[in-house]
Amino acid sequence: MKKTIFLVFILMIFVFNPLVLAEEEVEITMAVGTVGIEQELAQRAAEIFEEENPGVKVNIQAAPETSDERRSVFLQHLDRESPDIDVYQIDVIWPGEFSHFLVDLNEYGADDIADQHFDAMIENNTIDGKLVAIPWFTDAGLLYYRTDLLEEYGFSAPPETWDELEEMAEVIQAGEREDNPDFWGYVWQGYDYEGLTCNALEWIHSHAGGRIINEDGEITVNNEQAIKAVSRAADWIGEISPPETTGLVEESSRVIFEAGNAAFLRNWPYVYALASEEEKAVAGKFDLAPLPASDEGESSAALGGWNLAVSRFSENKELAAELALFMASPRIQKMRAVEGAFNPTIEELYEDEEVLAANPFFEDLYEVFENAVPRPSSQTGELYNEVSSFISENIYLALNGDIGARTSLEYLEIDLEDLLGFETRAIE
Ligand code: GLC
Repeated sequence: MKKTIFLVFILMIFVFNPLVLAEEEVEITMAVGTVGIEQELAQRAAEIFEEENPGVKVNIQAAPETSDERRSVFLQHLDRESPDIDVYQIDVIWPGEFSHFLVDLNEYGADDIADQHFDAMIENNTIDGKLVAIPWFTDAGLLYYRTDLLEEYGFSAPPETWDELEEMAEVIQAGEREDNPDFWGYVWQGYDYEGLTCNALEWIHSHAGGRIINEDGEITVNNEQAIKAVSRAADWIGEISPPETTGLVEESSRVIFEAGNAAFLRNWPYVYALASEEEKAVAGKFDLAPLPASDEGESSAALGGWNLAVSRFSENKELAAELALFMASPRIQKMRAVEGAFNPTIEELYEDEEVLAANPFFEDLYEVFENAVPRPSSQTGELYNEVSSFISENIYLALNGDIGARTSLEYLEIDLEDLLGFETRAIE
């Protein structure tokens, strides 16, 4: 009897004692990207949040490497209304498709800080008046080039046109091959996935071939300039780009460049911080430039980027939103910019001395970031993922040489018409 009273007494202490209650941990899980040092930086920020919020434990969960795989894993959780992940790192092309799974962050204080961020990003993440994600970092496709090799082979500046890039790549590749059989002129992402859609948009737009689907939602992809662009890229493979290009994604292409096995690389800004690490073969021997254009077109960078969203199925929405806004705050964006070259979504950080000292290209290439070309996700909303799969699938066939560029864009046009039911227009 005495024992029972004692146990009840102990239990009462745990149930009613506010001190014990305060020490009870609340756990919150955030799924983040794993490209480069993304996860490490998220972990560090999570630790700061924990220190400042005693009793909160933040679990940083690694999401798969590519956007496509991440999307499938996230949708598996959200489709079954799982409360396991509270905060999701979502791609700039997903708000339309994911919005019904996400809370309106304006109801959790985001409306007070939204104006720190670039308007276009807030607009991109606002679906039917709901702010479904807070911008975290932005991306634009860039050209990485070897300053030492350009100089050695007598080129005074990085290429401005695709013709120039081809010429420089050929010359440098021929020279370097004498000592290094693994050397290639130009490395980029040609696997059948979202990254190929980004590369293809850049080739097509920079050849004055439009945006695949224009701002009014009309399908414009089947045009002579776009055909030229895709056929040019297909010709690179095996000539200035490795045969395994059709298997390359961001990370595998970065590794080739970092090992000193390529003159040029197309990739996102994060590579800057990693390739600059002392132990890397190319540290101090490369720089960044806008991607080349054809004579008729203009340099074009695909607009990328990631945002933080809170699941409707979270059991701690308030805290999850607090964590998302903390992660996207100027303080954490600055840390990620300085250490990882992740481009802030907060305008004033582009004037911050430490940010610019770590990443001089944020200033030099500001126009590239400002004019980056969006994929047609706002126009196609929930259908965007299918749109993009059609783009990468058909272009992949052309890269592999299974069909010509002309046929690939004809097929793509038919697939998009079937899906979207829109009329096709010639580009202006
Ligand atoms: C980068 C971009 C993202 C894009 C992806 C494609 O992560 O930020 O927007 O979808 O690359 O591979």
